[in-house]
Parts: sequence; structure tokens; C-alpha cells
Amino acid sequence: MPLTVVQHPLAQHYLTHLRDETTKPALFRTLARKLTTLLAIEATRTLQTVSHPIRTPLKSIDSPVLDQGIVIVPILRAGLGMVDAITDLFPEVSVGYIGMARDEETAIANSYYRKLPSVEGREVLLIDPMLATGGSAEAALEDIYSQNPARVQLICIVAAPEGVSRLEKAFPSLNIITAALDDELNDRKYIVPGLGDFGDRLYGTF
Ligand code: PRP
Ligand code: URA
Repeated sequence: MPLTVVQHPLAQHYLTHLRDETTKPALFRTLARKLTTLLAIEATRTLQTVSHPIRTPLKSIDSPVLDQGIVIVPILRAGLGMVDAITDLFPEVSVGYIGMARDEETAIANSYYRKLPSVEGREVLLIDPMLATGGSAEAALEDIYSQNPARVQLICIVAAPEGVSRLEKAFPSLNIITAALDDELNDRKYIVPGLGDFGDRLYGTF
């Protein structure tokens, strides 16, 4: 399974400030959005284009335009902090939602909401900032893959080796794009060094 860690210096700069425990929610939201823009550019590098006839002020030419509908699926709630970056880049996207919450004791994810458009034959970007045990992403991906999408990519901000290996086994064709592959999970299944609870830091719910 392809795993891409985006090493662009600006992406790493944003990530450092997201990790910093002194970063407050207002700045955290701005950084999450800016970093997602860079990750989304990487994830969409191979989108198909078609030739479109136009006339510049000087000449008629055929020039490329995007030829693929994209579906983005944020996992609630933290994935919402990444949506605007992608809808700004691709205003025509369809947006589906999957709500998953990890139990605080067991770290097992439970689904509480689902509103998905048809993804059959379409390019899907699953969006969730934290890939920890992989339980939330796995449940969402089972749902998405059951509808025969053309291709699925997961965009996350920080990934743990445990989550990556779990998804690698379950979905060999999945692409993962992340800003960091961190060291490990702690005994509460938080990513280390990580950045803490993304949803709480995004929404100020401490
Ligand atoms: C967080 C995060 C992921 C999940 C990752 O969500 O946003 O969805 O944990 O953990 P996993 O890989 O072990 O499943 P959380 O359940 O805390 O909900 P929230 O987004 O509403 O804060
Ligand atoms: N969810 C988070 O928000 N952070 C982690 O480190 C793990 C799961």
C-alpha cells in the first residue's frame, strides 16, 4: 500500500505548530486548513484531465481541465477541520459524512452517523486527521469500498505505524497521504509524539 509522507518544508512548519501544546484553537483551525491544502494537492496530483478548446487573447488552443468527480468523506468530528481546504480547491466535490467516536476507555470506534452519496466509480478522499489504531478509518473504508469506488485515498495529518499496518492488511490498494508517520501509540491509544486530541484542540472542548 502506498504511503506518502509530505515532506514539504511548509507542511512540516504547519505541523510543528499544530503539535505545539501552546497553540490555541483559533490558530489550530487555521493551521489544519493550510496543511490540508498541501496534503490535498499531493493526493490529487494524478487526477485525470481532458483537453478543452479555448481561445486566449492570442490563439485558439486545447488545454487541460479536470475530468473526474471527487467525493470527499470527512470522519466527524475532527475531519470537519479539513473540509474547507478541499472544497476551496475543488468547489465541485460531493461531500459525504461518516460520524465515528472512539470509546474513551477501549479506544474502539463506534459509528453514530452516515450520509454518503454514491461513490461507485468515483475518486474518493477519506479525510481524518488522526490515524491511530485505524479502527475509525477501517470502519469507514469498509463502507466506502463496498460501493466499488474507482480509487480511495486517505488524507490524514498524523499517522501511527499501528494504524498504517492495519489498513495495509485490510485495503492493499488504499493510498495514504500524511504529514507525519509518528513513533507509536501510548497505553490510551494516543499517537506519540502526536498532537493530542485533534477534535478537542480544533473545537476547544477540553
Ligand atoms: C479521533 C480522530 C479519528 C480517531 C482516530 O476521533 O479524529 O477519527 O480518533 O483513532 P483510531 O485510529 O484509533 O480510530 P474521536 O473518536 O476522538 O472523535 P472526534 O473526532 O469527535 O473528536
Ligand atoms: N485521536 C486523536 O485525536 N489523537 C490521537 O492521538 C489519537 C486519536
